Amino acid sequence: MNRFSFHNPTRLYFGQGTLDKLKEELPKYGKTVLLVYGGGSIKKNGVYDGVIGILNELGQTVHELSGVEPNPRLSTVQKGVEICKQEQVDFIIAAGGGSVIDCVKAIAAGARYEGDAWDFITHKAPVKDALPFGTVLTLAATGSEMNNGSVITNWDTQEKVGWGSPHVFPQFSILDPAFTSSVPRNQTVYGMVDIMSHVFESYFHHTTNSPVQDGFCETLLRTVIETAPKLLEDLESFEHRETILYSGTMALNGMVSMGTTGDWATHNIEHAVSAVYDIPHGGGLAILFPNWMEHVIDEGPERFQQFAVNVFGIDPTGKSARETGLEGIQALRAFWTSIGAPARLADYEIDDSQLATMVDKAMVYGPFGNFKKLDREDVNAIYRSSL
Ligand code: NZQ
Ligand code: ZN
Repeated sequence: MNRFSFHNPTRLYFGQGTLDKLKEELPKYGKTVLLVYGGGSIKKNGVYDGVIGILNELGQTVHELSGVEPNPRLSTVQKGVEICKQEQVDFIIAAGGGSVIDCVKAIAAGARYEGDAWDFITHKAPVKDALPFGTVLTLAATGSEMNNGSVITNWDTQEKVGWGSPHVFPQFSILDPAFTSSVPRNQTVYGMVDIMSHVFESYFHHTTNSPVQDGFCETLLRTVIETAPKLLEDLESFEHRETILYSGTMALNGMVSMGTTGDWATHNIEHAVSAVYDIPHGGGLAILFPNWMEHVIDEGPERFQQFAVNVFGIDPTGKSARETGLEGIQALRAFWTSIGAPARLADYEIDDSQLATMVDKAMVYGPFGNFKKLDREDVNAIYRSSL
């Protein structure tokens, strides 16, 4: 294991009825709240009414910012920052999926920054402070509810950039599985692919002696694989929504990656696709991840063998580590196809016309990835095999 320190300050409230915890939390932060949400799903599933009811009961002054886009945009962040500064907002509530939460992280930091939020999103200025915020999560996917990462798209320049700061951990996050029951089938699938992909980014590393971390990762992967078909049979199952919601938070709150050096190349490659084509993040990952795996397997076939055996139960008898690993990758492809995830960029009508642009965008900070350091040729090859 690598040396590490671990601190995650986000308080998690998990389970049915936990929205009530807003009544305990909000009075700690002042009287003026900005409520941020997306395109309106929270108005259909009762989350909006629940939150507003509590805010009114507490006598809070409420401002609203709606319309946060999937793949949230800088222009929306800027609107939120302006409201916070003008109205002297004390606290922000993000009610929605990862996009709403990521947008709120940038608004919170932008509210305590003099210049334009794009400066710190693009790592040109440090984040020194942020307004406090809490989340009411409605979609199991990103883990943003319990981490300090955020991904923002500048649509004018077609850049999708990940950034983070210790100042943008949520103060608290409320996770009621019932709030995720209304997530449509395709978005439920993308969320499960994203959760598995976060585990993969942590799991494929070269750090030695990580049996506990490996076990956490393999349990999460097997759990999602076992639960996904049952949930897709019954999208309103509280039990299965609960399992997936908990898996999503654990996959990217730092728990499975303590002391190891994860990879994160595939996320970077996917963000470049989303920046140009605005496709759902989980859909892009389903297409790219198996191709990244096949591209890098020779850097550590034993790791892929372990994955194949422990996650998909592939029998390794009489096979090389590479052969077993490749069977594991095939099993992953088959599983994702079985739950309706896309398998090719062509599924989003993406051809090779913008391939060079996507490579440029992925390479903007130079070679990346840790399992294998990827250069332009590698990235190009992974996109080509994904067409
Ligand atoms: O906008 P509304 O109307 O709320 O609808 C949303 C949106 O259309 C809908 N939705 C959410 N909860 C719902 C619901 N519909 C019905 N019922 C509900 N309960 O789902 C759609 C997608 O929402 P979005 O928030 O975009 O999805 P997700 O949570 O997958 O977030 C994706 C964004 O997160 C970034 C991605 O790049 C992408 O921009 N990521 C953030 C990470 C982080 N902060 O740690 C890590 C991830 O790897 C990822 O990159
Ligand atoms: Zn992701």
